[in-house]
Parts: sequence; C-alpha cells; structure tokens
Amino acid sequence: MISSKLPDVGTTIFTVMSKLATDCNAINLAQGFPGFDCFPFLHDLVTKYISEGYNQYAPMSGVPIFKQRIAEKTKLVYGVDFNGESEVTVVSGATEALFAAVTAVVRPGDEVILLEPSYDSYAPAVVLNGGLPVYVSLNLPDFSVDWDKVKSAITDKTRLIMVNTPHNPCGYVWTQDDLNTLAELIQDREIYVVSDEVYEHITFDGRKHLPLFSHPLLKERTFACGSFGKTFHITGWKIGYCLAPEKLTIEFRKIHQFLTFSTATPLQYALADFMVEPSRYLHLNDFYQNKRDLFCQGLKNTPFEFTPSQGSFFQTVYYGHLSQESDYDLAIRMTKELGVASIPVSVFYHDKTDHKLLRFCFAKEDDVLEKALDLLQKPFF
Ligand SMILES: Cc1ncc(COP(=O)(O)O)c(C=O)c1O
Repeated sequence: MISSKLPDVGTTIFTVMSKLATDCNAINLAQGFPGFDCFPFLHDLVTKYISEGYNQYAPMSGVPIFKQRIAEKTKLVYGVDFNGESEVTVVSGATEALFAAVTAVVRPGDEVILLEPSYDSYAPAVVLNGGLPVYVSLNLPDFSVDWDKVKSAITDKTRLIMVNTPHNPCGYVWTQDDLNTLAELIQDREIYVVSDEVYEHITFDGRKHLPLFSHPLLKERTFACGSFGKTFHITGWKIGYCLAPEKLTIEFRKIHQFLTFSTATPLQYALADFMVEPSRYLHLNDFYQNKRDLFCQGLKNTPFEFTPSQGSFFQTVYYGHLSQESDYDLAIRMTKELGVASIPVSVFYHDKTDHKLLRFCFAKEDDVLEKALDLLQKPFF
C-alpha cells in the first residue's frame, strides 16, 4: 500500500457538490465555472490554427507572440513593464503556475504563510515540497487581512506568503495599504510572494485590481499567476501565465519544464490574436457586476445576511442567525431539499472552521440566477 503524501486530501467538495447537484437535478451554483460560452470568434481562431497545422509542441515558455501580447496587456492595464521573452511564462492553468512557483521557492522546513480561507491547491503545493503551511485567518466579516497576525506569523523560516486578490471565496480586493504593509513586512527578509490574481478583471463598484507587481518592492519578489480560463470563459482550456522578474522566472521555468513542458499550441496562437482587443477583457467588470447586482438584489428577499462581493464571481452569505447547522450539512440539505447547490466556506480552512457561510457562484446565465433566487426565497429554515 502506497503511503500517501497527502493523507488528508480526499474527493474535493467541488466534485461532491457538482455530482450531488446533477443527481438531485439542482441548480449548480457550487463549482466556480461560467455557465456560458466564450465568444464564437475565439472558437474560429482555434479551429483556424488547428487546421493550419499549429499542432506540435509550443516552445517551453510559450509562443513568443503570445508572451509579447501578455506583456503588452500588462503594460496597458497596469502600466507595468515585463519583458515578454524573459519574464512571462505560459502555463497550463493558474494551478500549474501556483505549483511551479511554490516548488521554485519552498525547500523542506520552510514556512509558508497562507491566508485563510484559501483556495484548495495552495496547502498541498506547500506540503508536497516539504514546506510547513502557517495559517493566518482573514478578518471577519469583510475578509480583509489582519496585518498584526501576519506580522506575528513571520519567523526566520518564513520563505513565502501566498496572496489571492480578488479573493475566492470571499471577494475581498487588496488595497494600496495592503500592498504597502506587505512590502514593509518583507523588505528586510528573504520572503517571496505567490500572488493568485486569476480574477484580476472582475472587480466591482469602481474598485481597481492592484496587482502585487504594481508595488516596486513587491515586483522584485512576486510570481503573479493569471488565468485565461476566468477572463475568457474557457476554464476547460487550462491556460494561464506567470509574470515574474527574470531571476525568478529562470527558476520558475525549470519547474514548469518538467511539470508540463509546454501548453497547447493552437490555444496560444488563438488567444494571442483574440486579446489584441482590450474590450474583450475590460468589459468583464461590468458584465459580472450586473450579475452580482442581480444576485444580491434577489438575496435581499431571502433570510441570508450578506455584504455584496467586492470582486471575483462569488458571493458569500451568512446564516448563523437562522440555524446552527454546520455549513457542510446545510449545503448538502439545500441541494437536496431546495434544489440549489453551494459550497460551504469551512472547506477553505485547514481545520474546517465553520463561520456559517455558504459561497454561491454567480457566473451563470441571468435566468439560471433568477430560478435559483426563486428557490432560495422559499421558506426553508
Ligand atoms: C483563486 C483561484 N486560483 C486558481 C484557480 C485555478 O485556475 P486555472 O483553472 O487557470 O488553473 C481558481 C479556479 O477556480 C481559483 O478560483
């Protein structure tokens, strides 16, 4: 019998809830994927490149024109320069970028600060590299960062901090103060940052996404991980990128080279053409804000308490004033009895801390959201 390297990891809640949603014929607001397709023009581009024979391995770090376009987009949107050849790497999804970046930095015994609740791939990536996750909980109710707690979690062994803005599952968007404080805390230490920014184009109410590399000191220490899956409604293509200074990119690519070597060639050419038009990603804030507003408007007619999400395509709701049932049990029961699937937020905590919160994904067609809201408005508790 193999001795598991990840003994605590079982079937993920996303798989469990999606299967339950299908079995119960429930509306699936659990797993975080868009319920609509990408622009048909993007299909045409992929088909074109496949039929023109762009079907062999891409260069290890990505197709040059694609890396160039990613660098140009970064300059256009954030005013920050990255060298397309030496500081941009194309990867098979942000999950790969996160794993490669953690692997590039973390050695056995190193401590890695994880802000909880946190996305489920972070801790396994740390543990598989012999690192020790050090968990720091975000502030309730807004899930902002408790900088005093972060400060006291830093030791001589701290090698990395993992950041996620806009945040899944809670939607918190980092402020300039957050960036400045992190920079102050790490400036005199050899601490790196892996910044998961897959929802970079989904922020609301005029908030701007501040990439960590927009701070000069953080830029020198950060691996910024992005995903085209979230930006162009193509989560099934598993394609993303990592932006990092050349010294970090050299180490990052050593890992990427042996994880996947390279990423699907026709997708890279197609996306390089597609992304030349900035409105194709800049419209996302408005597109998703309409959905968030529709969802939150409907939630007002339910007994849940909530603060509208600042970013990402998730909305969390609180039910502790209605029931003391565990969030896990409630999510299962709501799927079975009410017909709406959600994710219990406790799964994003290593010790399954239960704050009586559920996460809904509102990246769905409006009529699906309306149907789900009708169901959520029925007497249930
Ligand atoms: C915070 C966060 N990071 C990373 C990912 C994974 O991105 P990708 O599908 O590009 O691997 C997700 C997907 O849900 C996510 O929510």
